[in-house]
Amino acid sequence: MEGKNLTRILRVIKSLSIHPSYIPFYLRYSILNKKEPLELALPWISLSAIKFLDNYSIDSKSEILELGGGGSTLYFAKKGAKVTCLESDELWAKKIEVKSKELNISNIDLKILPYNFKKLESFVNSKFFEFIGKNKYDIILIDNYEEKIQLRPKCFYAAEKSIKPGGIIIIDDSWRYPELRENNSAKFFKVFKSIGPCRLGVSSTDIYFY
Ligand SMILES: C[S@@+](CC[C@H](N)C(=O)[O-])C[C@H]1O[C@@H](n2cnc3c(N)ncnc32)[C@H](O)[C@@H]1O
Repeated sequence: MEGKNLTRILRVIKSLSIHPSYIPFYLRYSILNKKEPLELALPWISLSAIKFLDNYSIDSKSEILELGGGGSTLYFAKKGAKVTCLESDELWAKKIEVKSKELNISNIDLKILPYNFKKLESFVNSKFFEFIGKNKYDIILIDNYEEKIQLRPKCFYAAEKSIKPGGIIIIDDSWRYPELRENNSAKFFKVFKSIGPCRLGVSSTDIYFY
């Protein structure tokens, strides 16, 4: 999240004082851990959002679309869901493939769809973006690669058209997109702000309910 180092440290202290039960996880998976979320088969989102998903009904009937794959792909697939993962980076996709083979996971449809992240107009005309509208899903995770130009808000509004009634849209690093909290067609949304795996600071993941 934004701010100087002192602000970030104070934010971690505050977050851990709100969730003292997260301290062992923070030490093990955020400070001492050298592995990537892919290695851990954990979504690279806030821990409080992971805890919510741990208790959310996800099974072989769940159809999930992921924009940006990694630990989250393995996490959802291990629960038996049918996961369609759109990944823009070929090498990263290879890593996901290798790891899923290692874990004997076969319920992932991994689509490698590179896009130009420097031009919004080019992105919205890409196969990656167009794919969002092709089907309906129970869960859509928006966590795809972007740099200075924000691509995820466009993905969010496209995802709102593809989410089934009763479904959820998860958007990571949600603190970057405050406008979505003001303007969405969800029944309600929850902000999950906490520490998370493989990052030292606090971040936020928002979940929208339809
Ligand atoms: C935040 S990551 C996606 C994380 C994923 N949803 C998860 O929970 O693990 C967003 C994108 O960054 C890129 N990325 C992340 N880590 C990478 C790495 N180590 N090497 C190459 N690309 C990476 C990939 O394109 C990925 O889809």
